[in-house]
Amino acid sequence: MSTQAVGTAKEVFELLRDDLRAVERELARDSDSSVQAITEIAGYLREGGGKRIRPTLLLLAARALGYRGRGSVRLGAVVEMVHTATLVHDDIIDAADTRRGRPSANTTWGNSRCVLAGDWLYMQAFRIALDERNFKVLDLLIGLTQQMVEGELLQTETLGRLVSEGEYYDLIYRKTACLFRVSMRLGAVLAEVAEALEEQLGEYGRNLGVAFQIVDDVLDLTANEETLGKPVASDLREGKATLPVIHAYQHGTPAERAAIDQVLADQSFERVSHPEILAILERHQSVEYALAAAYHYADLARALVADLPESDERRALLWMPDFVVARDK
Ligand code: IPE
Ligand code: IPE
Ligand code: MG
Ligand code: MG
Repeated sequence: MSTQAVGTAKEVFELLRDDLRAVERELARDSDSSVQAITEIAGYLREGGGKRIRPTLLLLAARALGYRGRGSVRLGAVVEMVHTATLVHDDIIDAADTRRGRPSANTTWGNSRCVLAGDWLYMQAFRIALDERNFKVLDLLIGLTQQMVEGELLQTETLGRLVSEGEYYDLIYRKTACLFRVSMRLGAVLAEVAEALEEQLGEYGRNLGVAFQIVDDVLDLTANEETLGKPVASDLREGKATLPVIHAYQHGTPAERAAIDQVLADQSFERVSHPEILAILERHQSVEYALAAAYHYADLARALVADLPESDERRALLWMPDFVVARDK
């Protein structure tokens, strides 16, 4: 493929095709347990698809830095398994009924089995990671898992009330951006580059992940369930205040603020409707504000890979922020 060519999802997929297929095979092998329910739940989620963004980042980072071994396929599967485990747990916590366009695992297998399947997936991810015999890899993964669990826990403590922008950014770092950061860093660890470069690529992942979660939160307000493949308007129904809502609150009239407080406290649209909230966001251009923030983080990410040596992978990394902010699912 010519270097000029990498600039669309299809081309990035083409560039990584063999590696991504190998990641899928690794995932299939790794989710085989002697307990049928675990194999079923893990298989069900895998077959549901998903964008595979985290392994894509890990593969791109490793290859952009010259790594050509098999470790990136294994660790690609590891970050996807950690991601899958968090989705299983997140859907229980959020009482979500749809994921990846299908009924979520908790609706089929129930919460108890899904909590345990999620735990199993975390441990299986660590077992595969152990094959690298690299303490740095384990150190990154353990720190990551603790951040993600802390993020979900801190979030449950904020439900029902408005949060500040500072709290919001802290939460989305822990919930989402940390895994993007670690995916990039793991690629850099495999390539055995200097600490500063590893950190630089990690920062790319962090900024990209922040942009990604802001867009996820915007899509929750603006998308339809069929395209998104998971419930919409669910954040407000869970009492979760995201960036557009925080912005509208900051600029709202007393009546508008009261409406937002009401929905968050009720954790439902019974007393204030979803269209009423959307009208408030519209009046203050709050979705545009959140998207501008996502563009800002996407720009920060792009700047962090601009000085990498010229390659298809570097081009793909430069393109990724565009994909993240323009996506509709
Ligand atoms: C969903 O992540 C969870 C968030 C961090 C918002 P993705 O949107 O990457 O989910 P899949 O893997 O593509 O289904
Ligand atoms: C995403 O939070 C964080 C995870 C670690 C799963 P959300 O609750 O917004 O994720 P979705 O929207 O359910 O995918
Ligand atoms: Mg959720
Ligand atoms: Mg969401």
